[in-house]
Amino acid sequence: MEKLPLVVLISGRGSNLKAIIDAADPLVDIRAVISNRQQAKGLLYAKQAGIPTEIMAHTRFKTRIDFDTALQTRIDFYQPKLLILAGFMRILSPGFVAHYQGRLLNIHPSLLPAFRGLQTHQRVLESGIKEHGASVHFVTEDLDAGPVITQARVPVLPDDDEESLAARVLQVEHRIYPQAIHWFAQGRLQLQGQSVLLDEQTITFNKGD
Ligand code: GRF
Repeated sequence: MEKLPLVVLISGRGSNLKAIIDAADPLVDIRAVISNRQQAKGLLYAKQAGIPTEIMAHTRFKTRIDFDTALQTRIDFYQPKLLILAGFMRILSPGFVAHYQGRLLNIHPSLLPAFRGLQTHQRVLESGIKEHGASVHFVTEDLDAGPVITQARVPVLPDDDEESLAARVLQVEHRIYPQAIHWFAQGRLQLQGQSVLLDEQTITFNKGD
């Protein structure tokens, strides 16, 4: 089977990038890692693995569209069939998202559609709910609202603080993101309108599962 060329966008720590690298999926070819922050620790994981890295500081661009256009040009230089957001802390413009429609994935630290946006662990603790988790989803124009591909649940324990809960969620993130990428590389995953098809069956996490 042909390897799936992919590009990963990061902004910081890069532990999900590391999990994808460590998965060493024989169906996956990580062509480049691009960060909008020069100090992103994740760049080191890419360098150690011999993957080309680029820094594209958003601060050098006047508008979001200017940045997204330049970013798109750099990404497309590597001709990826899948674009991976792994802790990329920039909102992407509709034109950018449309360009990568059906081949743009993100991981979010909550059981979507619950707790979109930032500070999910803190908000989960404040809410008193007993279950939390992570979701891999296709990116669409609406922030953190794209159709979910897979989720993993973790318990919220009585003694949890933000750090302990985040660490538990991160562990499952590192399992489900490489898994979703593997499905995509196998050609089993598809975005059809607002639905995700896995092996031609619709997956429905977004309906309050
Ligand atoms: C993760 O919690 C991910 O769910 C969210 O941003 C964080 C990135 O962490 N989108 P890392 O940079 O992969 O360690």
